[in-house]
Amino acid sequence: MIESKIKSTVRDVPDFPKQGITFKDITPILKDPALCQEITAALAGRLKGLDIDVVAGIESRGFLFGPALAQLLNVPFVPIRKAGKLPYKTVQQSYDLEYGTATIEVHEDALLKGQHVLIHDDLLATGGTVVAASELVKQLGAEVAGYSFIIALEFLNGKARLTPYSDNIFSLAAY
Ligand code: PRP
Ligand code: MG
Repeated sequence: MIESKIKSTVRDVPDFPKQGITFKDITPILKDPALCQEITAALAGRLKGLDIDVVAGIESRGFLFGPALAQLLNVPFVPIRKAGKLPYKTVQQSYDLEYGTATIEVHEDALLKGQHVLIHDDLLATGGTVVAASELVKQLGAEVAGYSFIIALEFLNGKARLTPYSDNIFSLAAY
């Protein structure tokens, strides 16, 4: 089963990036191409029946599987990046971190009005990052078709922050 394979491959790193946080390190997954293919197929499998025009992935770990997922779905991939990285005109959205704020952005011509956008990231924690990504989608007049994650940290209740945008929230491994 994909969930147990993911859980047995992900490496828990205690006290990273700071004391008391256990980091879910997905780099061991990347060393296993068969598992990577299985994960991409499983991500796509959960989306059957959804109307998806574009996959938007969030820098940086949303870039690991986002493009592969988009290719499997045969739709474009759009990078949502941390502020200051995209070369062309952008729209921006800030969100709160535990200390301070962060800003992500997307090219202003990355999405067309009314397009159905699947937002992909490696991991759902508090949901702050994907809420900001959802606001970027809305700023460009597109719609959130759903969310796809490899891992969801359900004890942080991030899902509740996403339902105002879409009820289609999928993850392969839950903690
Ligand atoms: C991590 C993770 C998600 C986000 C989840 O990214 O990859 O993008 O945090 O947290 P949230 O649900 O509480 O917003 P991070 O900002 O650490 O950057 P990275 O992907 O560049 O490593
Ligand atoms: Mg990230």
